[in-house]
Amino acid sequence: MITESACGKVILYGEHAVVYGKPAIAVPVKNLRMEVSVEKSATLQIKSECFENLDWIKTGIVKICDELDVDSNFSITIKSTIPIASGMGSSAALSVAATKAIAKLKGVSLDKEAVRKVSYASENIFHGGASGVDNAVISYECPIYYIKHEEIEELEAALDLKIVVIDSKVRSSTANAVAAVRQKHKENKEKVNAIFDDIENTVNSAKFALEAGDFEELGNLMNLNQDALELLGLSVLETTQIINECKKLGCFGAKISGAGLGGNVISIFPDDKFENAKSELSKKYNVVIVKL
Ligand code: MEV
Repeated sequence: MITESACGKVILYGEHAVVYGKPAIAVPVKNLRMEVSVEKSATLQIKSECFENLDWIKTGIVKICDELDVDSNFSITIKSTIPIASGMGSSAALSVAATKAIAKLKGVSLDKEAVRKVSYASENIFHGGASGVDNAVISYECPIYYIKHEEIEELEAALDLKIVVIDSKVRSSTANAVAAVRQKHKENKEKVNAIFDDIENTVNSAKFALEAGDFEELGNLMNLNQDALELLGLSVLETTQIINECKKLGCFGAKISGAGLGGNVISIFPDDKFENAKSELSKKYNVVIVKL
């Protein structure tokens, strides 16, 4: 039996617009992991206590096997500390961990770029029209600046940045959120393209702020990105409430992260506000701190 794991992820800036060729910045969450164990079997069998729709996973695994040119008769066991359907990349982590485990069982060694390419095949099934940012950051396990079909840029992020990730507990489907934005884009191309242009500017400014360690600016840019995501209709009451609570606790900025329509809120706090904010938010929500 071969076991491999993959990390979670958080999108800092640029979700959704990245599907339309705009840039996004994403970071790995290395302490949350998806573990996939693979062994030969007479038929393809999936054992998982975390995912409900195992047929959907089977389709993704078959796709990975096709890419790696191996028979898909495996017994696959999936364990995860990444929360499912909450914007932390559980499906992409599954694609990446399964790619690494199946390749290893075949005796093939893949570098991170090869893992990214293979895992995209199943990620695209899971998400339907995925930009590829999730499986890219999870394959690379480092902060990235990502544009679809372009070379991945690894970012030197300021090391003491702490991102507070707050789970709204509203489960969201990335495929549904992407489809909702696609519908909006179809109905009003000009307006939605202008929102995407704004997001692009925000992401490009954030790249510099991240490298310079300008946390206040990173917060301002989160607020700007959130305004754009709201215009795209991706906020729900619960995430808006969390963002308002972060603001009351003195954050530099806060936004939804990932697909939206629920899922996670991310926020950055000044050092002197961080501990209090973490403890206040933890009283009501599941909070994860992502350190780069
Ligand atoms: C999901 O984590 C990010 C989205 O932009 C979808 C994608 O990029 O495939 C919403």
